[in-house]
Amino acid sequence: MKMKVRKAVFPAAGLGTRFLPATKAQPKEMLPLVDKPIIQYGVEEAIGAGCDQIIIITGRGKQAIEDHFDVSYELEKMLEERGKTDLLKIVRNISDMIHVAYVRQKEALGLGHAVLMARELVGNEPFAVLLADDVIDADVPCLKQLIDVFEEKQCSVLATQVVEGAAISAYGVLKGKPVDGTNGRLFEVTDLVEKPKPELAPSNLAVIGRYVLTPAVFETLSVTQTGAGGELQLTDGLRNLLKKEKIYGFVFDGKRHDTGDKLGFLKATVEFALKRSDLGEPLRQYLKGLKL
Ligand code: UTP
Repeated sequence: MKMKVRKAVFPAAGLGTRFLPATKAQPKEMLPLVDKPIIQYGVEEAIGAGCDQIIIITGRGKQAIEDHFDVSYELEKMLEERGKTDLLKIVRNISDMIHVAYVRQKEALGLGHAVLMARELVGNEPFAVLLADDVIDADVPCLKQLIDVFEEKQCSVLATQVVEGAAISAYGVLKGKPVDGTNGRLFEVTDLVEKPKPELAPSNLAVIGRYVLTPAVFETLSVTQTGAGGELQLTDGLRNLLKKEKIYGFVFDGKRHDTGDKLGFLKATVEFALKRSDLGEPLRQYLKGLKL
């Protein structure tokens, strides 16, 4: 029987050290990209890809994420009384969007550990994992592209992008065999390495923050040893999964922004604002006027 991907897991319990001091008392997932928190882009992508259950892995200091997807009674009442129907609609849409469940990761013991926290809520079905700070601008939501591959292959699928040069060492990198007839877009993974030295990278195919995984990954993660920095790495869990099941890497269509990084965040802010009908033109004029 073919399985559908209905559940989307958002690990959001990391410490966000690259974005200090902004992330000292505020989750990086709540930093606004123009006027929407980063995590809302990911949640909208998951909904657009057909998921109907969102599971957010949170930790200390992440309360603002829960408040964001909850009903804000006082705010709604105030907007209603003042006749601000447009704003009221925006605010209501967020809490009406979808059912969100939260699981707490008590200690930041790594991405693999965060995913393992979702085991009970996900159960025995395939699921998506989205790292919210990878914001992907695409005509077809990136996750939908992966789910389309999953539906055909019924195996785990990792979002992949080509990264040239030394920058590859910031990523999990896959080694794979191109699948015939896919124009170099789909690879059968033969190995995975987390953050290799550039000269040791097995390819230029970097894994980025969108995954469709089979539930077998919970089993392999639960017996995977902690790796670099005492953390349970998702990459190590996936390597163990490879011993049991096929995994595919898919070079998706779209532009990925690393908004967990200060420069990446700034670039994403400018690009997203330039695309807006209300802000694009005045921002373009402003940027043109800067003496650069
Ligand atoms: P990152 O590698 O981006 O780490 O985690 P981070 O702590 O969030 O940020 P920096 O690097 O210190 O700035 C990748 C994803 O895994 C989640 C993070 O929230 C992020 O979405 N994560 C990481 C957890 O949920 N738990 C962890 O223990 C580690």
